[in-house]
Amino acid sequence: MKLIIDGREVSAYPGETILEVCRRENIFIPTLCYHPAFKGQGVCRMCMVELEDENGNRRMVASCTYPVQEGLKIVTFSAKIDKVRKNIIRLLASRAKGSDYIQDLAGQYGVEPLDLPGLDNEKCILCRLCVNACKLMGSSVLAAVWRGIDKKISTPYEEAAEECIGCAACYEVCPTGAIEMKEENGQRIIWNKVFNLVLCQHCGKAYATEEQIALVERKTGISLPALCEACRSQNLAGRLKNFSG
Ligand code: FES
Repeated sequence: MKLIIDGREVSAYPGETILEVCRRENIFIPTLCYHPAFKGQGVCRMCMVELEDENGNRRMVASCTYPVQEGLKIVTFSAKIDKVRKNIIRLLASRAKGSDYIQDLAGQYGVEPLDLPGLDNEKCILCRLCVNACKLMGSSVLAAVWRGIDKKISTPYEEAAEECIGCAACYEVCPTGAIEMKEENGQRIIWNKVFNLVLCQHCGKAYATEEQIALVERKTGISLPALCEACRSQNLAGRLKNFSG
């Protein structure tokens, strides 16, 4: 199907969102709660764009959740969009005073955070990407707890969760550096829990926790070779070469 984005005709596939099409076409739209591994969530509203109807009337939608339709006319930048994004960043910067990433973003957009007490070290913007990552890669132990200004993402009762496998998928997807993780002496510490790291038999790099490997083996019924991803691909490529040669 065909769409018009910023006056230019582009092709799109049914089921895609506006954001996915824009990313493919190298049209920049800022995002915070979006990660290509998951469906758009529409939480942060940074990715707002305008849709224009045949009479020139415009309305705003979140591009990470809005599905494309034939003939859609999309505007990705305007004075109104800029104003909305600045207001969102001001609110996020007022909450996440401890996040360098969010404070830098506020600087780039030229906005001053509001003076909200009690949030000096806060880094989380409650985008929930970590919750999604935990569902997909881990064991669904993360969720939003408490309400209002006290709302936060946590393990049950804010304690070390038995089910947590220390996969660090939450840490990897967090856009603001809010999740703390430490790796030292062959151990990973995350969400108040200590995990032993397994070393790759080939290159010696720590590549997963014991619990992570156990979960994958339990789910797949396959016993995994003790190799990191890079060595596993190399090993497979070598075997294929021998096979074809
Ligand atoms: Fe679309 Fe957050 S990126 S709402």
